[in-house]
Amino acid sequence: MCGIVGYTGAREANPILIDGLKKLEYRGYDSAGVALHRDGCLVINKAAGSVADLEKKLGDQFNKVTVGIGHTRWATHGRPTDINAHPHCSCDNKIAVVHNGIIENHQSLRQWLADEAGHSFRSETDTEVMAHLIEEYYEDDLLEAVRKAVKRVEGSYAMVVIAAGEPDHLVCVRQDSPLIIGLGEGENFVASDIPALLAHTRRTKILEDGEFASITADRVEISDRDGKVVEREILEITWDLEAAEKGGYEHFMLKEIMEQPVAVKETMRQRIDPSTGQVDLSELGFTEAELSSLEKIFIVACGTAYHAGLLGKAIIEKVAGVEVEVDVASEFRYREPIFEKNQLAIVISQSGETADTLAALRLARRNGLKVLAITNVVGSSVSREADRVFYTWAGPEIAVASTKAYLTQLVALYLLTIYIGKARRSIDPELAGELVKNLMDLPGNLKKILSEESLSRLSSYCNHLSQWESAFFVGRNLDYPVAMEGALKLKEISYIHAEAYAAGELKHGPLALIVEGIPVIALVTQKAVSEKILGNIQEVKARGGAVFAITQEGFDDVSRQVDSVFYLPAVNDILAPVLSAVPTQLIAYYAAVARGSSVDKPRNLAKSVTVE
Ligand code: M6R
Repeated sequence: MCGIVGYTGAREANPILIDGLKKLEYRGYDSAGVALHRDGCLVINKAAGSVADLEKKLGDQFNKVTVGIGHTRWATHGRPTDINAHPHCSCDNKIAVVHNGIIENHQSLRQWLADEAGHSFRSETDTEVMAHLIEEYYEDDLLEAVRKAVKRVEGSYAMVVIAAGEPDHLVCVRQDSPLIIGLGEGENFVASDIPALLAHTRRTKILEDGEFASITADRVEISDRDGKVVEREILEITWDLEAAEKGGYEHFMLKEIMEQPVAVKETMRQRIDPSTGQVDLSELGFTEAELSSLEKIFIVACGTAYHAGLLGKAIIEKVAGVEVEVDVASEFRYREPIFEKNQLAIVISQSGETADTLAALRLARRNGLKVLAITNVVGSSVSREADRVFYTWAGPEIAVASTKAYLTQLVALYLLTIYIGKARRSIDPELAGELVKNLMDLPGNLKKILSEESLSRLSSYCNHLSQWESAFFVGRNLDYPVAMEGALKLKEISYIHAEAYAAGELKHGPLALIVEGIPVIALVTQKAVSEKILGNIQEVKARGGAVFAITQEGFDDVSRQVDSVFYLPAVNDILAPVLSAVPTQLIAYYAAVARGSSVDKPRNLAKSVTVE
């Protein structure tokens, strides 16, 4: 995720900015840059690559400079190149901007700025429009110009801006993306995250959505959209550096689980029109004819992404009426699938670098299929080689165990299902409307599942679970892929041997392993098969299994038939897997914590598997 640092004071700005950017490296980035004030001009240095490379490039040529802004970029709009790196400048190089977030209406603004106001652009980024827009409004008052520019902008942003004509002045604004002001003596700082500030100060003021800050060496003034001054209490940070990197959470995995409401919101942004409830994936460039003539879709992926694919198959077939085959990439590449015309391949990969998935993509393309990639990393190998790319905007995932990337992959598949279903006229309009509504409610419902109370319930359940060396996950229908993903997560980080079964399969073998007290986690969110799975649960209970059910509000029979129950907010059954995945992630997390495992870096595993 992108990182921002800014400094104004009496010390050398360059080492402070570089050190701050290094403290933000853990968030992931692909390029870095700084803008420094020197003798009434702005000097920009930026490049794809590491902060260390940037540091070398800068050397000691800016020793006397005391004001500047810096940025680490994680590519979203435009590839990770030198030109696309931040800061971005106005035509006259007198305004420089660093930005985290997405300017949603950047295309129309870019067009207006180029056609009507004669600006010329250098990069492919959404951010560059801000530099030009501020230039357009600048009349020797940077704060006022930023205020006017922001009025024309839709999207999310944390932005810091400097102007050549205002030598010690930083102007900041935030909407849906964090920005923290660090208070010093005769100097002040700003950063997108606390770790970048800790070496210099623990006294901070947090900017809220819709607020601006005008910062000089001696003064910090916060104001609202209308220019009214806002008083903000000083917040004293007590975290150490490690805790700060994890946003105060004990592990990256928990931080990433808690980020899911935002991650899904970002993934849906601009893809659902809230006023009409329409899903718009025109960014993918499919024609209606192409989608209508589809006869088969291959979904290929590994691990967690493969489990997302299994759910994708279930919903695409059920809702959009297209046949889907799902393969583990390492099998697909050697099994000689039958390729014909009117087929599409979808590869799913968080990192976009998984060797087997890449090989599967190449195989499909060699055989004449168009490939759609669902990935989280702009500029990754998969995104470069696919014909079309659906980016999940989960932000970088640092824990090896995939959580927020998985949930956003599911969201991508639901959006795609609705879009394909509409193009083929195979989706019931009422169902489409209900699913879109449920999707829009998703961030709020996820927040409910992530409440303190739920966390403490799941954590105390894991005191029991963590004492066992094996556990089962069961589900039927759409709950089965969720059970598979739950079992993978538990194995991966707690090292408890977990197996997932389609509940109807228990009596064909695994029931032999059910002994007194063994943990069985049952997913019960599908009304059409709820009687059936409750029957399977009785088979387990009769043999002493301890059943923990994850179900929806309104499934009243469940609590009477199991040992404990976790309720999810009620949604259409088709969308329930996006909610039910979350308690399974937390179960894996708390079981791993209880067993003292290395949660973020489990043994023998790597985040990105770039070898076959
Ligand atoms: O980067 P990818 O999505 O292609 O990675 C695929 C798998 O290696 C990955 O999902 C793995 O299974 C996760 N660590 C599971 O949490």
